[in-house]
Amino acid sequence: MALLDVNNLSISFGGLRAVDNFNITIEKGELYGLIGPNGAGKTTVFNLLTGVYKPNEGIIRLDGDDITRKSTIEINHAGIARTFQNIRLFRNMSVIDNVKVWTCGESSSTVPLRECSTWASTGKWKKRWIMKP
Ligand SMILES: Nc1ncnc2c1ncn2[C@@H]1O[C@H](COP(=O)(O)OP(=O)(O)O)[C@@H](O)[C@H]1O
Ligand SMILES: [Mg+2]
Repeated sequence: MALLDVNNLSISFGGLRAVDNFNITIEKGELYGLIGPNGAGKTTVFNLLTGVYKPNEGIIRLDGDDITRKSTIEINHAGIARTFQNIRLFRNMSVIDNVKVWTCGESSSTVPLRECSTWASTGKWKKRWIMKP
């Protein structure tokens, strides 16, 4: 079974069809890049995969589960994480810790994300955060 299976994903903003029948199947261990010109719909695809936008059509399955209509938090806890184009780094953390910060999701680590953020802003992060290998 594919790890990520996306079928006929589409979304329109008013009259603009930003994503039109997007399909991708990713198996465990595979690494993909999504390329295209400005305005092609790349960021919108990531917003759909992470629940920021809900598609007009299509289905997203993660490990066989339909996550198409789930919330961003539920999708994160199921195992999908992202960074943003306008990144906001934690200055007191290393580059690799910034990349791994998503492991603070409830199902994948010892502590929930909200607590981690508080720790980062109060400077107690390094003492209390246990990094997932
Ligand atoms: N929330 C939105 N409302 C209206 N139009 C949007 C919205 N998000 C993206 N778009 C439009 O969808 C198209 C694809 O945008 P985007 O996914 O950001 O492209 P890319 O990341 O490939 O540069 C663009 O025409 C953009 O203006
Ligand atoms: Mg973009």
